[in-house]
Amino acid sequence: MRNERHIVGGRRNDVRALWSMAGRRPWTLRRERPIKDERPQAIGEAPRRRWTNVVIGMGVGLCLVLVSGCRLDMHDQPRYKPLAASRFFPDGRSARPLVKGTVARGHLRLDEHFYTGKVNGQLVDTFPFPITRQVLERGRERYNIFCAVCHDRTGSGRGMIVERGFPHPPSFHIERLQKAPVGHFYDVITNGFGRMYSYASRIPPRDRWAIVAYIRALQLSQNATLDDVPPEERAKLLAPPAVKRHDAGIQEQGSSGARSTTGDQSPTTNHE
Ligand code: HEC
Repeated sequence: MRNERHIVGGRRNDVRALWSMAGRRPWTLRRERPIKDERPQAIGEAPRRRWTNVVIGMGVGLCLVLVSGCRLDMHDQPRYKPLAASRFFPDGRSARPLVKGTVARGHLRLDEHFYTGKVNGQLVDTFPFPITRQVLERGRERYNIFCAVCHDRTGSGRGMIVERGFPHPPSFHIERLQKAPVGHFYDVITNGFGRMYSYASRIPPRDRWAIVAYIRALQLSQNATLDDVPPEERAKLLAPPAVKRHDAGIQEQGSSGARSTTGDQSPTTNHE
C-alpha cells in the first residue's frame, strides 16, 4: 500500500513538472479555460459570442417547450362511444360481435367431466372429485334451498310448489332414476329437463356435483337395508327407540327397529 501511494505521488510530481515546463501552474489548470487565456481576442468578440449562445439556447428551449405541447396520444384518436351507431360496418353497429370460439379469460372449461357431466358425449357415472362428508353437507344445504321446493326434502317429488299446481316431478326413488348415472343428474341441473328449467345460472358446477352426491345419499336412504348399516351402528337401530330430550322421563317401550323422525334425539343407553 505504501508503495502504491509513493508511486502515485511520484506520478503527480511528474505531471506538475511537465506543466510547469509548459509555463503553467498545475493548480490553476482546472479553474482556467485555456482558450480564454491563451488566445488573444478582438475587443467585443467575447460578448457577441456569449449573446449568440444565449439566444440560440433560448430558441432551442422554446422549441422544446412548444414541441412538448403538441403530441398525439391514443386517447385523442377518433373513437366510438360504447354501443354508438356506426356507418362504417354493414350491420350499423360500432360494437363488434365476438369472434366465434372466443373464450373470456378464466372461462376456459377444459375439464369436460367436471363441467358437463359427460366424457366423449357419454354421461359419466363417477364424480370428478372425492365426495367427503363436507361435500355431502354442502349438497344437502343446496338441495334444500334449490330443489326441495318441488322435489321435497326426501326426493319423492311432492314439494310445496307441486302441491300448489306445478307439474309433478318424478320421485328420485323410482328404478329408472336409481340406476341413472350421476352425470344425468348433473346434466338435468345444468340444462334443465322437460318442464324443469336450468339451474346453471344459480348453482356453480361444484355445488351441482355436491347436490348430485346428496341425491345419491337420499336414494340410498330410501332403499337401505340393515346390511347397509355398519355393524357397530346396527345395535343402535335395533335398540328401543330413542327418547326426546325434553320428555326424557317418559320412556317409550315396546317397539323395535323404529326409524327416528326428528334429529333432536339421543340414543338410549340401555341396549338389551
Ligand atoms: C320449480 C320446480 C322444480 C325445481 C325447483 C326443481 N325441479 Fe327437478 N323437476 C321438476 C319437474 C316438473 C320435473 C319433471 C320434468 C319433466 O319430466 O318434464 C323435474 C325433473 C327432475 C329430474 C328427473 C329427470 C328425469 O330423468 O326424469 C331430476 C333428476 C331433477 N328434476 C333434479 C332436480 C334438482 C337436482 C333440482 C335442484 C337443483 C331440481 N330438480 C329443482 C321441477 C323442479
